[in-house]
Amino acid sequence: MAIVSPSLLAADFINLNKDIDMINRSEADWLHLDVMDGVFVPNISFGFPVLEAVAKACTKPLDVHLMIVDPDKFTDKVKALGAYMMNVHYEACTHLHRTIHNIHDAGMKAGVTLNPHTPVNVLDDIIQDVDMVLLMTVNPGFGGQKFIEHSIEKVRKLKALIEQRGCHTLIEVDGGVNADTGKRLVDAGTDVLVAGSYVFGAENPEERILTLKNL
Ligand code: DX5
Ligand code: ZN
Repeated sequence: MAIVSPSLLAADFINLNKDIDMINRSEADWLHLDVMDGVFVPNISFGFPVLEAVAKACTKPLDVHLMIVDPDKFTDKVKALGAYMMNVHYEACTHLHRTIHNIHDAGMKAGVTLNPHTPVNVLDDIIQDVDMVLLMTVNPGFGGQKFIEHSIEKVRKLKALIEQRGCHTLIEVDGGVNADTGKRLVDAGTDVLVAGSYVFGAENPEERILTLKNL
């Protein structure tokens, strides 16, 4: 059964409480929170004041995806949210090994995110230290984009690397996930599905969450 992490980016921001109640009632495993800085990605989402309010209301583990430069600056603030997972971008970290160990020292799980153009073999010498690899299956910055097909192959390669090393790193995918792409991603070795518009754009989001869990 897949772990499902609905992305709040696609929620109704004027009625966040209602959408978070839905997540709390649902079979969702985690809540995915997309932080954008307008520098690393060409968009800005929400920042810590909003995240703090969400963290208070949400009963699910928080899966924080930082699409920002210099994420180390915010490790303590992410920790203060009570986040379960802190995902940083490989492309934004010059000293990734140090960043990952700082996240662990703060008591969180560490996730490393790869943009669509970044090959999985850049993780060769760090995979054993990482709790999760988040593969972007669209270019980060916006919800509702078209799934990049090559991602299926990338999941297979990453799965092979993880198995070859005998580690327990999870594979998460993010962008353009629906029942069709989700099924193929799970078959290729994905453990965690992030879904924004597929869940929040539906009339019955809880049903969509169940669909993804049971793929
Ligand atoms: C995009 C974000 C995603 C986004 C996915 O940069 O990282 O989490 O919310 O949205 P969908 O599922 O609509 O592609
Ligand atoms: Zn995301």
